[in-house]
Amino acid sequence: EKDMGSDLKSVLITKQEIDDKLAELAARIDADYAGRDLLIVGVLKGAVMVMADLARALSHPVKMDWMAVSSYGSGTKSSGVVRILKDLDTDIAGKDVLVVEDIIDSGLTLSWLLTNLGSRGPASIAVCTLLRKPEAAKVAIDVKYVGFDIPNEFVVGYGLDYAEKYRNLPFVGTLAPHVYGG
Ligand code: PRP
Ligand code: MN
Ligand code: MG
Repeated sequence: EKDMGSDLKSVLITKQEIDDKLAELAARIDADYAGRDLLIVGVLKGAVMVMADLARALSHPVKMDWMAVSSYGSGTKSSGVVRILKDLDTDIAGKDVLVVEDIIDSGLTLSWLLTNLGSRGPASIAVCTLLRKPEAAKVAIDVKYVGFDIPNEFVVGYGLDYAEKYRNLPFVGTLAPHVYGG
């Protein structure tokens, strides 16, 4: 156990539950893309763990690429105005693309990203996310592969950060109030 226990309020999703869910999603993705080339695109940095474990759960021989995006605008975390910090190395025109995220919160980041990637002429584009917060959605996104719908609480671990910390927890947990300074 890492020495982060006192910062956590609870474990929301265990490593075992994550592993089981990714195996389920991987089986669906294997079936859906059978006989087709597939490029999976991870959204840095949060999606690193999901990408690594999902990719290894797939039987399908995928290619992997990464994007890094950042919301900007004063104050709000996700303004919906996004800039690309690192673009794909791959030309996705005519390709089947699966965007992999750790979490869809407001949906604004992914909404912008899907419009951006869609304009590059992929053959298809779909989304896989480990977590989704239905109560926080500000924009509707068609997500083909969802791991868990979760309550509108601040969650960390398994790639998800609070001020860049807790990403390396092997599970998804909720933060104790004192961590927020409250
Ligand atoms: C987080 C998360 C998603 C996005 C979801 O990324 O990893 O990418 O926010 O929020 P939204 O649905 O409200 O747009 P963040 O911008 O914190 O960057 P990170 O992945 O580097 O932590
Ligand atoms: Mn992210
Ligand atoms: Mg973050």
